Order: sequence, then C-alpha cells, then structure tokens
Amino acid sequence: MRYGVLGLGAIAPYFLKAIERCPHSTLAAVCDLDPAKTESLAKDGTLAFTDYRELLAAGVCDAVIITLPNHVHAEAAIAALDAGVAVCCEKPLAVTSAEASRMAAAAVRTGTTLFTAFHRRYNHHLLALREALPEDRSQIAKLTVRYHENILEHIGGDRWYLDPERCGGGCLIDNGPNALDMAHVLVGGLTLVGARLADVRAGIEYVAELDLMSQDGVPVRVELDWALTTGETKDVVAELADGTVLRADMLEGFTAFKSSLRHEYDGILADFRDQVAAGRTSCGTGVEIVRLVEDAYAAGRGERRRSKLPARTKVVRLLFHTSDKRGMSLSEWGTRCVSAGEIHELVTTTDRPRGAGDRIDAVGFLGFVEFQEGTVIALGDEVRLADGRLVGTVAGFDECHFPNHYNVVIASDRLWTATSAAIRPGDEIRFVEG
Ligand SMILES: NC(=O)c1ccc[n+]([C@@H]2O[C@H](COP(=O)([O-])OP(=O)(O)OC[C@H]3O[C@@H](n4cnc5c(N)ncnc54)[C@H](O)[C@@H]3O)[C@@H](O)[C@H]2O)c1
Repeated sequence: MRYGVLGLGAIAPYFLKAIERCPHSTLAAVCDLDPAKTESLAKDGTLAFTDYRELLAAGVCDAVIITLPNHVHAEAAIAALDAGVAVCCEKPLAVTSAEASRMAAAAVRTGTTLFTAFHRRYNHHLLALREALPEDRSQIAKLTVRYHENILEHIGGDRWYLDPERCGGGCLIDNGPNALDMAHVLVGGLTLVGARLADVRAGIEYVAELDLMSQDGVPVRVELDWALTTGETKDVVAELADGTVLRADMLEGFTAFKSSLRHEYDGILADFRDQVAAGRTSCGTGVEIVRLVEDAYAAGRGERRRSKLPARTKVVRLLFHTSDKRGMSLSEWGTRCVSAGEIHELVTTTDRPRGAGDRIDAVGFLGFVEFQEGTVIALGDEVRLADGRLVGTVAGFDECHFPNHYNVVIASDRLWTATSAAIRPGDEIRFVEG
C-alpha cells in the first residue's frame, strides 16, 4: 500500500511510525500547508506537497491518511475518494452529519474505502474488557466511559482545537467520538437520551456529560472533561447486574505520554488495510458517531432536533424585477416534495400571506434554482444565500406555473431581486429548517 499522509501535526507521527512498521507499506507522499513540516520526510522517494489536491493528482498513492484539522476532513476525503484513493480519516469523521453523509455517499459512489480512525477500539485493555463482559449484554447494569484531560497538553502548535469554527465545538466533538466508539465496541449501537454541556468558555464546552441507551437496554454514560489541571484519565467502568464491577484503564502500563498510541495506531492501520483488501466502502461507526455528537450538541444546547438536512440549490437563471400587483395566490400546501434536479422559482414578498388563497401582490423575483438534492420544503424554512445572509422564510407556494415549476413564496422584510442579492448563475442558495 502506497500511503499519503495529509497534515503533519501532533498525531501524524503515530501514523508515520505505524506505516514504517507495517509490511508492504510505503510512505509515497506527505502534505502540509507548512513546507517546513514536509522537508525532513521528502526523501527515499517520498514526495512532498503543500496542496493535497496536487498530491492526489500526482497519482502516487493508493490510500491517504487524513490528519488535518476537523473542518478540512470532508473536503479532503471527498477529493481523495473522487480520485479513487482509499481514505483513513482521523476522528471525528466530519464536523456535521451532512458532511459525513456526503463523505459516505462519495465512498459508495466511487466504490472506494472510507474508514474512520477510532484508535481506542484497538486498545488492549478495552478488548480485554470486551472479552470479560457477559455475552448477554442485558446483564450490564451500567457502562461509564470517562475521557478527562487538559486539552492544552494535547494540542499541537496551531490552536484550531480552541476555534469552534474549525474544531466544531469543544470536548464533545474532540473526545466524544473515541468515547462513543468505545461504548459501541462494548455494547453496540447507541441512542442518545440526554446531554449536558458545562464550563462553557468563549462558545467552547470544557465539560460534557451524555446519557445513552444501547439496543439491549444498557444505560451508557459518557463523561468528558477538557479542563483537568494536568494528567489524564481514559477508562471504562462496567457495573454488572450481580454487583460485579469491571474496569479498563486505557493508559494502564503506558506510563510515557501517549505511549498507548503505538499499538492503537498499528491496530488502525491493520484494520484499514483489511477493509481496503475486502473492498469495503462503509465507514463503520464514523457517520453514526458524528450524528450522535450532533444530537448531543442539540440536546445540550436545548435545541430542537433537526428533522431534515439543509437543501442546496444552484441558481440557474437570474430575475431582476419587482411588482406591486402580481396577484399570486397561496396554494393549500404547507410542504412540497422536491426531487434532485427540479427547477423552481424563488419569489420574495413583503406581504404577509397567512393561508390558502391569500393574495400576494408585492413581490421581488430572485431567480430560478435547481435543487441539488431531494428535500421537503416546508413553511418556515429559512432561505439563505451562500454567504449566510437570510433572504426570508418560506411562506408557501403559488402554483400558477405548475407543473412547469412552483413559485416558492418567501416572506422577507424587503423585496429581493438578483441585483439586490448580488447573486450570479451557479451560486448556491440553501433551504434550512427554520
Ligand atoms: N493530537 C491528538 O492526540 C489526536 C488524537 C486523535 C485524533 N486526532 C485528530 O487528528 C486530526 C489532526 O489533529 P492534530 O492534533 O495532529 O492537529 P495539528 O494541528 O497538530 O496538525 C494538523 C496539521 O495539518 C496542517 N494543515 C491544516 N490545514 C491544512 C490543509 N488544508 N492542507 C494541508 N495541511 C493542512 C497543519 O499545518 C498541521 O500541521 C484532528 O482531526 C484530531 O481530532 C488528534
């Protein structure tokens, strides 16, 4: 296997050494924005790049390992999969479930392996605990996974971990994936019951507590803490129905900082190679865990759970006019199903139509858009431009041109046209659940 490693920061050396130890594996290429980090590795036939797209275009890798900041995982993985290159991606697979789904879809579309590197699932102590647990998992009264550390002792030179835009959050998105995957290894698929986020500083949670339930009804608690003064605790406690308590300490016997990672990253690489050899495209628990983390953020922030993904549309025709006597009329429908590839017209109004048959006169025309994925447009959905500006919320549908297209009527505080919105053909406009 000819590997490329994308991102040469704090965790990459564990992969680089695992590649060295792995038979029939070579380091074909490395990439980092910072050329100083690639310099020492650019020898013995290893090529160095500062742009991962150039690395992919060079065609020298069978697989890439993504050790980039979280917000870059999706774009790099999809680019690699589209180039037919297998992907082993650090956790979290992505920052949002929408990104994770697109990555998983790219793997299936291209028939290429996408794999999430959950290193703790290969920890000897975790695997010993799995063996020691009763086969009948319903005999486990409670499982607690703890991940306690001081994040400042774990980050590399760049402080993206402390930037929610790039990290996706705090301890929940950082340590949640490994902790949740460990629970998954022990008791199977999980459903979120509740989540609490605490010690929130500058929008980042330093403490998170999750309550979950396994398919067999095992209550699982995940406790994450990024603000320990120093040192770390990474363990699992299983309380059995008969009162027995079993514990696995992931760091037991690994006294040097991060020394357990050696055998864990060997485990990742061996498993990844097996997945590639078997031609598997599914990324295991990767997407499921991104979803659990997203649900936990929503629950912890007291947000309503989302019922659909944002739908992307592409502007295919601009419109520039307004009217104060258009005479549209709202249809009786509160939702409309739209397939990928359908084209509909976006019309803004400052009128406030409330129900079927209401007349709409004051209108501004934005243009026609093509839906990039199937969706259900609903009253109250927000319509947002690519730069995040809110155009307004869906007030309903006028069907005077149907079946050619719907006029999607958007209640707004002003009449938008393609000119005032400064949009161009090809721009993205999104429908986001309101
Ligand atoms: N550090 C750990 O202990 C640890 C453990 C498990 C998983 N991870 C995961 O590994 C990933 C990387 O974490 P890290 O701690 O090594 O981060 P890091 O900041 O130390 O390293 C990231 C590297 O990526 C480079 N980079 C950033 N954007 C780039 C781009 N567009 N193209 C090329 N290079 C780019 C940076 O220059 C940097 O060298 C994260 O997803 C993290 O969650 C880290």
